[in-house]
Amino acid sequence: MRKTFLFVVLSLFLVFKGIADEGMWIPMLIGKNIAEMQRMGLKLTAEDLYSVNNASLKDAIVQFGGGCTGELISAEGLLITNHHCGYPEIQSHSTVDHNLLANGFWAASKAEELPNPGLSVRFLVRMDDVTNLVLKNIAPSMTEQERAKRIRQVADSLVAKAEKEGIGYEANVRPFYYGNQYYMFVYQVFEDVRLVGTPPESIGKFGGDTDNWVWPRHTGDFSLFRIYADKNNNPAPYSPSNVPYKPKKFFKISMKGIKEGDFTLVYGFPGRTQQFITSHAVRLLIDQSNPHKINLRDIRLSIFNKFTESNDTIAIKYAAKHARVANAWKKWIGETMGLRRLDAVSKKQEQESMFAAWAATNPELKERYGWLLPTFDRLYAELAPLSLVVDYRNEAVYGVEMLSFASRFERLLSMALEPNADKAKLAEQRNKLVEYVRDFFKDFDLSVDREVFAAMMQAYYERIPQKLQPEFLGKFIQQSGNWRELARQIYSQTAFADSVRVLTLLNDIDSTNAREFLNDPVFSIYFEFEDLYRKNVQKRYFEITDSLDILYRTYVEGLMRMQPDKRFFPDANSTLRIAYGKVGGFAPRDGVVYDYYTTINGIYEKSQQRDVPDYVPPKRLMELYQAKDFGPYAVNGTVPVAFIASNHTTGGNSGSPVLDAEGNLIGVNFDRCWESTMSDVMFDPNYCRNISLDIRYALFVIDKYAGAKNLINEMVILQ
Ligand code: ARG
Ligand code: ASP
Repeated sequence: MRKTFLFVVLSLFLVFKGIADEGMWIPMLIGKNIAEMQRMGLKLTAEDLYSVNNASLKDAIVQFGGGCTGELISAEGLLITNHHCGYPEIQSHSTVDHNLLANGFWAASKAEELPNPGLSVRFLVRMDDVTNLVLKNIAPSMTEQERAKRIRQVADSLVAKAEKEGIGYEANVRPFYYGNQYYMFVYQVFEDVRLVGTPPESIGKFGGDTDNWVWPRHTGDFSLFRIYADKNNNPAPYSPSNVPYKPKKFFKISMKGIKEGDFTLVYGFPGRTQQFITSHAVRLLIDQSNPHKINLRDIRLSIFNKFTESNDTIAIKYAAKHARVANAWKKWIGETMGLRRLDAVSKKQEQESMFAAWAATNPELKERYGWLLPTFDRLYAELAPLSLVVDYRNEAVYGVEMLSFASRFERLLSMALEPNADKAKLAEQRNKLVEYVRDFFKDFDLSVDREVFAAMMQAYYERIPQKLQPEFLGKFIQQSGNWRELARQIYSQTAFADSVRVLTLLNDIDSTNAREFLNDPVFSIYFEFEDLYRKNVQKRYFEITDSLDILYRTYVEGLMRMQPDKRFFPDANSTLRIAYGKVGGFAPRDGVVYDYYTTINGIYEKSQQRDVPDYVPPKRLMELYQAKDFGPYAVNGTVPVAFIASNHTTGGNSGSPVLDAEGNLIGVNFDRCWESTMSDVMFDPNYCRNISLDIRYALFVIDKYAGAKNLINEMVILQ
């Protein structure tokens, strides 16, 4: 009885007050959290973390290549991020004879560092709260389109002005809390970023997909790059005459190590979270969307596996695809389990009942918020069947490589069929496509995709209501009833599977050639799916999701009024954030307790399971292990490899600096535990742990494994 009471009080307390470790906070406003952070151990001030007037820690952090984070670790522009973040670049420098993925790479001098066209990094120069400016002329009577247009006008002029302030500046204005607030972000973008070093995959991706999203982890998930600038330290396109960038700030590296309960801070660019979604949305996610997407990927992955296990060429071609498809698949499984375990739907419902009760307490609240929950009910009910089609479109239709390949041709074909097509634009579009086509066939195998096609068509046919199915599916199944036979016919007839034919047709693209593409069976199938989607799903689907965004804007405003003392963090939106927590293990399942760190001993142990290809470390690493040749990186006769802590992170936080109480670098964030992945929707400090590479393992690999003393000498390492 007392326990129950305590539990109710406690959970209400958590709902109202927020949970200490939860949150991805806005650096500019971190002052509001600083007292709590200092209580947890932080020795720094808000100004140390973020300042526009003086160099602060934010100046040592970059958004890396769009989807990851990286941080500077030397006065000469040296940067560390994850191996999986540098993967495309590492892969692009790899050939059979010179395989950086397999062998690793360490530039012995700056002259050996490898340029990466297309890769850029961005520093946050500053952020401004522009809410008042942006919302100044917004009236409640405006339609959503009018509102959006006004906002865009103001934002565009702010951005245009900010981008003139410095070399390589780029700015944008982003909504927070579903458009209750707006902030402008001004970045400085550097385009000359060179690969400096990477361990072989057998370290950088040790554990592979087997260990992905899983603790205990032994992945040396790091790679090193260097930012180059012109002679004045300004951004410049790649040039051999560029020089290493001198950062305003770089991280000192701490060798002091970590113990349970230590304060940790993760400073990076989390991509997307959805903490405010209602019980309806959570139910849709875990009862419909995730299970269907997981199931479709189960099918696809088992086809990939069947081929890659028996054919090495296919295994190489499908390595990155497999990793990508498996990464989200495994996350969705973990997320679904996690949300079920937390009983997230009931928790959300409780919160909604409280909200409804609060909104009924006076007429003003009732008018402004009383209608929200019934409207969520209605809109999500209408959304569910449309959302199913959208999921099948993304996973089943676009999961077939031939169909997503064909989709890339649509724009060019419609341009080519226009009687007065602009020749220059057409040529530009064609050239882009030619490049894409060449890349596509490098990693494509027809026998794999043919089987995926058969399986995905069958899945679509069996699950999606008939009125949302292209006619050919029903017709075909009546005639022959064999999906493999359909696939065989289509794949033997299509020109899209023949790179030479595709390139020849593209080469002199005119209306005749365009028609040949249009009439191709693969393009027709793609287009039948697309046409149906555009006519019957797309418009209403986006009307509903747009309406939901407006509802959430008002709902979140209401939640904030209902709990005026609670600090709300805005959902992640790929802008710079601070998350703080503590080092510590947890109990993921009945009878299992996780320790908070791993060591090189675990790499050896895993390598003893000889039938797991993901567990094959490099020979040299195991020699160092056997000889206990750990140099200064030895701790109690071993080398620490990874650790977990309760920082709230998500996709995009990969590569983020993990800092100690003094702001020194102790790790590089790279993943979450499987039992934690529901944190994008609901964070729970009992189960949510981010996984970081212990910086001492990175140093050990750079120094003892690779012998790259030149890099170690650049760093400032605190003993
Ligand atoms: N789970 C990590 C994050 O979501 C990616 C790890 C990449 N490694 C892999 N084996 N797929 O993105
Ligand atoms: N592995 C993720 C990333 O690449 C991080 C995460 O989702 O926890 O950003």
